[in-house]
Amino acid sequence: MAVNMLMTADGKVSGPHHPSLESTPRQTMDPMSAFGSRRDHNRLLRIRATMDAIICGRGTIESGPIDLGTGGRRYESMRAACGLEIHPRKIIVSGSGSLSPDCKVFQNKKAPTLIATTTAGKQLLKATFHLKPWVEVRSFGKEFVDLRKLIAWLHEHWNMRRMVLEGGGKLNDAMFRANLVDEIFLTVAPLVYGGTRHSTMSDGKGFTSLPQAASFECTEYHCCDGEMFSTFRKKHTPRP
Ligand SMILES: NC(=O)c1ccc[n+]([C@@H]2O[C@H](COP(=O)([O-])OP(=O)(O)OC[C@H]3O[C@@H](n4cnc5c(N)ncnc54)[C@H](OP(=O)(O)O)[C@@H]3O)[C@@H](O)[C@H]2O)c1
Repeated sequence: MAVNMLMTADGKVSGPHHPSLESTPRQTMDPMSAFGSRRDHNRLLRIRATMDAIICGRGTIESGPIDLGTGGRRYESMRAACGLEIHPRKIIVSGSGSLSPDCKVFQNKKAPTLIATTTAGKQLLKATFHLKPWVEVRSFGKEFVDLRKLIAWLHEHWNMRRMVLEGGGKLNDAMFRANLVDEIFLTVAPLVYGGTRHSTMSDGKGFTSLPQAASFECTEYHCCDGEMFSTFRKKHTPRP
């Protein structure tokens, strides 16, 4: 699985990070989330155009009017040329199941959407989403979503091979810790936000020692109009 993220030069991907800010509605307090350029957005659409599915956490789809769409005909033709379904499937991860069916991503019926949740979350979501048959709800664990089980299920039942994870920091962290990320597409914007109130690319629990840290190598980078676009691949050599 690939991760695609945009961050500031000091590693912030925006959005509330400090626990005291988490209950604040994001659209009303988070204009600093909209810091990407048109070029970065086009790169995101090109990356999506090579993927079977897009995966996001609850925090991300609630952070704005996000529909995880293709970007239009040009990208749909690229998908068709690669033999992919015209619209990528969508997977939303929410352990709690407290997801609003009004989120923009659930209005788009063009591709099946899976909500990966827990046993308790499933009860809640089945009631909330029963009028949206294109949204499937499945439990992959009791307290947390077992992400390895989720990915195995997506391979087996939806035949998903290439998937892109588009954040946010908490879900990214859980995926890194489950050793499910092979590739990172990272854009660095020429900005510094500073402070501790913003999310980073990988929040949550993190790794606790250097040998455990997820390890990648930069395989490509280029700069354009002040931004840096880079690709990292997972390192397979064992650490000394
Ligand atoms: N710059 C960028 O490229 C970029 C990309 C994406 C997002 N963002 C920003 O990132 C912010 C959102 O990030 P975030 O870290 O707050 O949220 P997030 O990672 O999108 O979602 C976190 C939620 O995902 C669920 N989750 C994650 N791992 C789970 C697991 N193993 N089991 C069960 N549930 C799991 C939980 O939902 P429940 O609480 O329902 O259990 C958790 O609260 C937004 O402000 C957005 O703008 C930036």
